[in-house]
Amino acid sequence: MNKMNTTIKRYGIIGFPLKHSFSPYIHNRAFGDLGIKAVYEKIETEPEKFEEKMAELKSGNLSGLNVTIPYKERILRFIDQIDPYAKAIGAVNTIKCHYDRWTGYNTDWAGFLKPIETDLDSIEKCLITGAGGAARAVAFALLKVKRVEFLWIANRTVQRAEKLVRTLKQHGTIEFRTSDLNEAAECGISFDLIVNTTSVGMSGQKEELIIDPQPISKPGTIIYDLIYNPLETPLLQAAAKLNLKTVNGLPMLIFQAEEAFKIWTGRRFNQNTINHLFDKLPELIR
Ligand code: ATR
Repeated sequence: MNKMNTTIKRYGIIGFPLKHSFSPYIHNRAFGDLGIKAVYEKIETEPEKFEEKMAELKSGNLSGLNVTIPYKERILRFIDQIDPYAKAIGAVNTIKCHYDRWTGYNTDWAGFLKPIETDLDSIEKCLITGAGGAARAVAFALLKVKRVEFLWIANRTVQRAEKLVRTLKQHGTIEFRTSDLNEAAECGISFDLIVNTTSVGMSGQKEELIIDPQPISKPGTIIYDLIYNPLETPLLQAAAKLNLKTVNGLPMLIFQAEEAFKIWTGRRFNQNTINHLFDKLPELIR
C-alpha cells in the first residue's frame, strides 16, 4: 500500500440495490468542502453475499459505513456496541469502525426531526401511515425525543401496526391507537402532524394518495412525506391545496447524512455544502 492510501479514510454504504443512492454524492461533497481526505463509495452487495462481504469489510480498513435497505436489521449481529436509540429502534444505518470494533447508530430519527424542530412545541397529536422500519424510527423520535401526547399508527396490515405499538409501549406511556388506513381517514381527529412512511406515492408506482389529509387536518397541520422522489407526492400536493405546511423527504435525506458525518468526523456540514445539496439533489433525483 502506498503512503497516499494510508492517509485517505474510507467510508461506504452497503445495501442492495444501490443504483439510486445519493449518499456517495452527499458525503464526498461534504468531505471535499471541508478539505477532509476521505472517500465514500457504494458497496452494493447481493443478499446471498452479505455475510461474506461483512467478513471482508470487518477485516479491512473502513472508517465508517452506512447501511441501507435491506440490511439495517441484518447488520446488527456484526455490531460490537450499539447506541441506545439504534437499540430501541432495532435498526442501524451508521457504523463507526475502529479497526474491527464496530459501533452502530441510527441517524434516521434525528434526520427526521431536524426539518420540524422549530415546530415541535405545537405537535401533540400525530398520525403515522405505515408500520415498517421507517415508521419505527419516526415513532421513536416522536415518543422519546418529542414526547407527543397521542400517536395513531395506521397501516394497510393492522397487525403490523399493533406489533409496532407493543414495542413502543415498552419505551413510553403516551396514548396510542392503531387502525387500517380507511379508519384513520375517517376518524375525525385534527392531527398536528401527519407523516407518511410508506412507499405509496413514490415515483415508479401508480399515482396514489396514501390518505386524504382534508378531514384529518386543521390550519397549522404539518404534512410530512418521507419520500423524496418525487419531491411532491400526491399527499403533499393535496396538502398544498389546503395551504398546509408540507415537508418532503429531501431534508431528512440530507440531515440523516449529516448526523452520520458528525459521528464519523466530529464535524457538521458547512452551510455551503447544505445549500449546494438542497439545490443540486432535486436535479439528480429527477
Ligand atoms: P421501510 O423500511 O421503508 O419502512 P417496509 O418495512 O417494507 O419499508 O415497510 C413498508 C411500509 O409501506 C409498510 O407499512 C407497508 O404496509 P404493510 O405493512 O401492509 O405491507 C406500506 N406499504 C407498502 N406498499 C403499500 C401500499 N400499496 N398501500 C399501503 N401501504 C403500503
